[in-house]
Amino acid sequence: MDRVNVAVIGLGMGRGHARLYHECPQANLVALCDVDTTRLNAVGDEFNVTHRFTSAEELFQLPGLHAVSVALPNFLHAPMTVAALKAGLHVLCEKPLAMNAGEAEAMVAAAKAANRQLMVHFNTRFSVPSMWARQMVDAGVVGPVYFGRTGYNRSRGIPGRGWFAIKAKSGGGPIIDIGVHRLDLALWLMDHPRPVTVSAATYAYLGTELAARQGFEFDVEDLAAGFIRFKNGATLTLEASWAGNTNRAHDTFTMLLGTRGGINIYRDEATSATKVSVVQEVGGSLVELSPKEQIKPPTAQAAFVRAILEGKPNPAPGEHGLAVQRILDALYRSAAEGREVPV
Ligand SMILES: NC(=O)c1ccc[n+]([C@@H]2O[C@H](COP(=O)([O-])OP(=O)(O)OC[C@H]3O[C@@H](n4cnc5c(N)ncnc54)[C@H](O)[C@@H]3O)[C@@H](O)[C@H]2O)c1
Repeated sequence: MDRVNVAVIGLGMGRGHARLYHECPQANLVALCDVDTTRLNAVGDEFNVTHRFTSAEELFQLPGLHAVSVALPNFLHAPMTVAALKAGLHVLCEKPLAMNAGEAEAMVAAAKAANRQLMVHFNTRFSVPSMWARQMVDAGVVGPVYFGRTGYNRSRGIPGRGWFAIKAKSGGGPIIDIGVHRLDLALWLMDHPRPVTVSAATYAYLGTELAARQGFEFDVEDLAAGFIRFKNGATLTLEASWAGNTNRAHDTFTMLLGTRGGINIYRDEATSATKVSVVQEVGGSLVELSPKEQIKPPTAQAAFVRAILEGKPNPAPGEHGLAVQRILDALYRSAAEGREVPV
């Protein structure tokens, strides 16, 4: 096999998956699936895909299909992924991997049982700043990380459509929607230390009011903040909000302090560009390193396809999605109980 035959299920964010498979020389985008036929036909026409399905069960019968992207609302990630794996397909699943750790565990187990790839679409990793930061970690420039802060706070940015703010369909609010990317990025750059406890709080003052004003359902948090302790002694603060009275529209940050150097990845509000630097002490002075070249990393889709072709583990395995989910479950539990809880 020199190319992977792939389909995309769910064509909101899934349109982006379709485009990246379309552009990937090692992938054939052979089919699309969405219950919304307007979306299905628009994306089908855009990428010239003739096999179009409104039922995933029918899609799974397509001869020669090897893999699917699952880009559905969160409550459908687990059932659709498990069904696809059971049908013998590799799966690239959108973030969050699932609604909770229980579902994520079942997905990881299903991938193992089927001997198929399960990758999480943690695309924040597949950016120039993130990949460069990872290179610095690999080069030993940072050393063991003992403290970090990571998060994404919006001034006003509640996804006011459909299912996002309905807990039974999303699993939670901003921490499960946008916080997952920042938590995953920090864990990945810290080499996944074992989490031990979480202390957290959630709030919904603004979200409840803004949703009522705009007339959509809202029963999740609009802000969550947590403090995570790891077995190796490291700690990490995590923040995510969809709404806050702040002058920064999209405040994304991941700052990690290591014994040899510190990483700072943040969004520059003036230019909207994501910046990255590593600070180290050299000869008694603090120096700041930043990438001179912009070497474009592979897309998550290209990395997924390559892992299938090479029969090697993919770079964002289901286990990493599960690790994030266990911390998020603990975060919600801690917020509900008002105390530090084990992960
Ligand atoms: N990685 C990222 O940067 C990123 C960005 C946005 C969204 N997402 C994730 O992508 C997923 C989808 O989000 P979205 O914004 O595209 O949502 P959306 O609601 O806009 O799109 C979901 C699509 O799934 C379709 N659908 C629903 N049930 C279906 C079924 N049973 N079979 C086939 N199609 C079905 C809907 O018709 C819709 O077109 C979510 O998990 C979200 O968290 C990730």
